[in-house]
Amino acid sequence: MKDISKIRQQYNKGQLGSNDLKVNPFDQFKSWLNEAVQSQCLEPTAMTLSTVSADGRPSSRIVLLKEVNDSSFNFFTNYNSQKGLNMNSNAYVALNFFWPELERQVRIEGRVEKLSASESDSYFKSRPRESQLGAWASSQSEIVHDDEELEVLYKTVEKKFEGQNVIRPSYWGGYAVHPTAIEFWQGRANRMHDRFSYKKCDESWLITRLAP
Ligand SMILES: Cc1cc2nc3c(=O)[nH]c(=O)nc-3n(C[C@H](O)[C@H](O)[C@H](O)COP(=O)(O)O)c2cc1C
Repeated sequence: MKDISKIRQQYNKGQLGSNDLKVNPFDQFKSWLNEAVQSQCLEPTAMTLSTVSADGRPSSRIVLLKEVNDSSFNFFTNYNSQKGLNMNSNAYVALNFFWPELERQVRIEGRVEKLSASESDSYFKSRPRESQLGAWASSQSEIVHDDEELEVLYKTVEKKFEGQNVIRPSYWGGYAVHPTAIEFWQGRANRMHDRFSYKKCDESWLITRLAP
C-alpha cells in the first residue's frame, strides 16, 4: 500500500471572510448546500450523524439530509435502529458535512426530536415503492442470519402489499436536529483554513472566528 502519511492536499479553491458570512447560519448553510448541489458534489446531502449511547459510547454513520428549514436539519431512519435507540436515551447529536470538491466542512451540534407522524407520512409517501417495501423488510441494525434472509423478507412484504399502497411502518420516520452550534470550514493554503463558529444565544447567533 502507498505510504498514506505522504498523502497531502493543498486547499486553494476558496476563502471565507467575516464579510462573506450571513447573519443567520441557516442562510449560510443553504447557500453552501446550494453550491454543493450546483457543483455536482457526489453526495451533497450526505452527512455523518454521531449519536451517544446510554452508557456514553459515541457512534457515527452517514444519513441523508432530506429537509433544511429555518430551525432544523431533518433526516429519516428506523426508530429501532442503533442510532434510534441512542437518540431515545440521549437527544444530543452531531452532524458533519464534508464537500471535498469545494474543500468545505460544516459541523452541527444540537438536540433531536422526532418529526410528527404526519410529516413522516408525507415523506414516506414520496419515496419509491421499492424503498417503502425495504423499510418493512429491514429490521435495521439487527443481525441477518444468512445471505437469503433479506430477499425472502422483501418478497414477503411485496406480496403482503400487492395491489395496495405501502403505509409507513410505525417504527420508521423522521428526526429534526435543532442546532445550538454550527461551524463553517473552508480549506486554505498552508493549513491556514478559515473557520467560523455560530453559537446560539437566546434567539440570536454569536459569530466568532476560530484558529484552524
Ligand atoms: C450515502 C449513504 C446514505 C445513507 N442514508 C441513510 C439514511 O438516510 N437513513 C438511514 O437510516 N441510513 C442511511 N444510510 C445507512 C447508514 O449509514 C447506516 O448503515 C444505517 O442507518 C444503520 O445505522 P445504525 O446501525 O448505526 O443505526 C446511508 C448510508 C450511506 C453510505
